[in-house]
Amino acid sequence: MNNNRVYNFSSGPAMLPESVLQQAQAELMNWQGTGISMLELHHRSKEFIELSEKITEDFRELLAIPKNYKILFVPGGGRGQFAMVPLNLLGNKNKADYVITGLWSRIAEAEAERYAKINIVEDAKASNYTSIREASEWLIDPEAAFLHYADNETVDGLEFDYIPDTKGVPLVSDMSSNILTRRFDVSRFAVFYACAQKNMGPAGITVAVVHEDFLDRALAITPSIFNYKKHAESGSMQNTPPCFVWYMLGLVLDWVKEQGGVPEMEKRTARRSQQVYQCIDQSQLYVNPVNPRFRSRNNIVFDLRDTNLNERFINEAAARGLVSIKGHPQRGGMRVGIYNAMPDAGVNALVEFMKDFEKTA
Ligand SMILES: Cc1ncc(COP(=O)(O)O)c(C=O)c1O
Repeated sequence: MNNNRVYNFSSGPAMLPESVLQQAQAELMNWQGTGISMLELHHRSKEFIELSEKITEDFRELLAIPKNYKILFVPGGGRGQFAMVPLNLLGNKNKADYVITGLWSRIAEAEAERYAKINIVEDAKASNYTSIREASEWLIDPEAAFLHYADNETVDGLEFDYIPDTKGVPLVSDMSSNILTRRFDVSRFAVFYACAQKNMGPAGITVAVVHEDFLDRALAITPSIFNYKKHAESGSMQNTPPCFVWYMLGLVLDWVKEQGGVPEMEKRTARRSQQVYQCIDQSQLYVNPVNPRFRSRNNIVFDLRDTNLNERFINEAAARGLVSIKGHPQRGGMRVGIYNAMPDAGVNALVEFMKDFEKTA
């Protein structure tokens, strides 16, 4: 790794592969012989349209997305989807089911209340966000327009290890913080989405994958720029897209493919998260309260039993080039984001630091 860089454990925007940053730097002044920077290229140029189509197909290939799903690159971030999902999926129904496993799914639910009557089928607050009940125990409303859940909760460090069976209710998932870290059966979903800034690129673009059957249900009040169908019909170019961010996302997808695709990312994610959880579990100082089954592989939260040591822990970590490890203010403690682009060496350095710190604590 470049000597000037640190291991950045931010929950997002997060580290990008160094080779991607280098390529973007090398191509900045003149993208592929056009004499134009990607920061300047017209979005409706033949070159950009071809690039956007390539990126779409790369994403389809990486996650084995069937042809009857549209892959949309949309504005508004993850939060934009909190509104777009109900606006586009309610159709002639006025109720939806929500699963709450942490901060983000709670915010998604609050947004949906603006448009529909919401039935909370599971609230992990009951376990202080340490566990998730089986979907078979949820009181799913068979008449709900959809059921929404967050596959991985970035703040609370809680991740599903199964795809809920909703008994026919269309399933929607926020995969913002674990997309491209494991394979899954796409055909189980009506919609899944992820903002880019954790595992796919810089902030500024969000991928929404929508089954074709769900393109005709938008409420009349849906702003055009929030309408899935209009994005599908325009090749995600209703407005001027963030071309540079989209291009960067494409470079990250190329990198994922070169590394061995999603199966390789899945192996790395499992191995590296196990390494950190093992360090936590073997220590007298660190503690992670989450039921091991639902521990996030991407956002590892932990507390120091002696909270007086928090500040020293953060400062000493920073002195070793390990930054952004403070927990989200809503949860406190520590949190490390270990996304695809984090080098193994960063995880090794983190674990070594944690062990060394404990000896001196
Ligand atoms: C799981 C999850 N959903 C949604 C969001 C919100 O994304 P954005 O900031 O792009 O709106 C985040 C952001 O961290 C997230 O972690």
